[in-house]
Formats: sequence, C-alpha cells, structure tokens
Amino acid sequence: MRRTLEIRYGKAVGLAMLMLVLVAGIIGCKTDETEKISGNVVNQTPSSSNRNDEEEAEPLRRSFKLGFSQLGSESDWRLANTKSIREAANEAGIQLFLENAEQSQEKQIEAVRSFIDQGVDVIAIAPVVETGWEPILREARTAGIPVLILDRKMELSDQSLYVTFIGSDFYEEGRMAGRYLLDKMRDRSGEIRIAELRGTEGASPSIDRGGGFREALGEFKEMNIIASESADFTQSRGKEVMKSFLETHKGAIDVLYSHNDDMALGAIEAVEEYGLQPGKDIIIISVDGTRQAFEMMIEGKINAVVECNPMLGPNVMQAVLELMEGRTLPKRIITPERIYTEVTAEREVSNRKY
Ligand code: AHR
Repeated sequence: MRRTLEIRYGKAVGLAMLMLVLVAGIIGCKTDETEKISGNVVNQTPSSSNRNDEEEAEPLRRSFKLGFSQLGSESDWRLANTKSIREAANEAGIQLFLENAEQSQEKQIEAVRSFIDQGVDVIAIAPVVETGWEPILREARTAGIPVLILDRKMELSDQSLYVTFIGSDFYEEGRMAGRYLLDKMRDRSGEIRIAELRGTEGASPSIDRGGGFREALGEFKEMNIIASESADFTQSRGKEVMKSFLETHKGAIDVLYSHNDDMALGAIEAVEEYGLQPGKDIIIISVDGTRQAFEMMIEGKINAVVECNPMLGPNVMQAVLELMEGRTLPKRIITPERIYTEVTAEREVSNRKY
C-alpha cells in the first residue's frame, strides 16, 4: 500500500513538473512574441524581475524619424537624389518624412516646422537658395532637433545651427569646367565667345559653378563670357534661353557652359534647330553626369561633363545613425567627383546610375 502510494505520489509529482515545464514554455513563447511586436518601441525600462534576461538580450533599437525637406523635382539629378534618399532610409530602417517644396523656400520652411511639430529625431534640408535659413534653424535648435544640410550650401552667420553639410564642392566643379575649356582651346587663337546657362538664382550650385569657372579662366583675356542667364536647371528653360542667346548673337557663340545636363539637353535642341552642330560648331560643357548626357557625349554633341553625384542617401543615413549614437560628425562631407569627356564617355556610360 505504502509502495502504491509512493508510486502514485511520484507520478503526481512528475505530472505536475511536466505541466510546469509546458506552462513555462507557453509563457516563454508569449514573451518572445511581445518583444518582436514592440521591437521598434523606444526606451522600455526593464522591470526588476526580468532585468537580468534583458541585459543579456540584444538591446532594442528603435526606428529613428528623419524629416527631409527636398527642394523640388526640376531635373534628373534631383529625381535620382530623392530616390537615393528614399531607398537608403528604407534600407537603414529609418522612418522618412519627405516633403517636396517644388522650388519654394517658404514651403521648405513650412515643412521644417511640421517636422518639428511631429517630433522627428533629425531634420535634413536640401535648400533651394543660400540665404534666409537662420530663423527656422533656430526653431529646430530650440526643439532640440539636429539639422543636416544636404546638396546645397546655406549662408549662415552661426555655424552651430547645423551638424554637417553633405554634398558636392560646386566651386571645384566650376573650376574643372574652366580648366577643361582652357585645355580644349589651347590651340585656338583670338576671342572665344562663351554663353553660360546658370541654374536657379541664389542657389549655391549656380553661384559656385559660375565662380569656380571664372576663377579658372582667370587672366585669359581671350575667354569672354558674352551671355549669361538663369534657366532654372530645367530642360525647357535651357532651350528657351539658348534660343534667345543664338538670336541675339546671330549664332556667333563658340562655347556653351551649362550648369546642369537638363539645361544642356534643352540647349542642344535649340542649337540644332538654329542649324548648327552641337559639340562641333559650339563646344558644350555641362555638369551632373546623367546617362542621357553621356549618350550625347558619345554622339559628340556634348564635349565634357563634370560629375555631380546625387546618390547622397547612404551618407545621409549613416550620418543620422551616428548622430543618434551620440557620435560627432565632421562639419563637411564632400562627395568625390571628376570630369568625363568625349574620350571617356563610351567606357563609362554603363556605370551611370541615373
Ligand atoms: O544642387 C544640385 C543641382 O541641382 C544639380 O546639378 C541640378 O541638376 C539640380 O537641379
């Protein structure tokens, strides 16, 4: 009898332990699931009972919020830039709030204010023009939100209003265009008449590409900029303005320096309609490096393209993550670039990403 009782008691204890194991298993599964679901949520304070488990587990990383004020969609460069930012944010698991201002500084300021109201972690701005940013940057600073400047420069008296500026050196791009022209024309004598299609007025690529180009031409008195006008970085305006240059100067233009490819493509149409051969009768130098511009170089209609790289997304996301980890970023992150000519175009065209 005693033995039977012991056996029964032993069985009961065994059963109870089995139940305990099963219940613990179920609870364990539930905890895992809850962690997965709330895996993106921030600042969870572990309770004292499970603190040890959580200390061993991977730290929970929340998804950061980036508000990006894009200036517009005026060119192929800009479209590629927006795509690069979207893709890189997605890849990095960063929540992107993107507002396109369609060339309006007012809209950019409104967008930044709305990012502040939504409590984003970081704000990035590709500024349409250089000036007029300090008040809104101060609002961001009061809200404790760090600001990254992308692509175009801002003219600021207080450099502490932003963390870093990621983008090209437009002045150097202008210099590269100028040096190329000097080399191309080294055997030509007499005056060289240059027409310039500038980008958006007040925008840093327009100011600096113009400045760098002039600096490179320096004291070469034969190099004469006989016409210079803004065509807003768009193909349609590029065509219109080039048409008016040709009419005003009766086709007597030796060189066109265009601040971007879209305007150069428009200008090529105008030159052909005027009955001249682009790339031969008029030397054409452009900036950006779109696939279409490379194809034009292969056809001999553009002579040289200075690269301006729009693929800023990966650099921007890296900056956001590093900033959120409390690291210090360099004040300036420059995208490396170079110049391509008719000679190198064929070899390079398949590498163009946009
Ligand atoms: O700010 C970069 C410039 O803006 C690009 O060269 C041009 O194509 C764009 O619109």
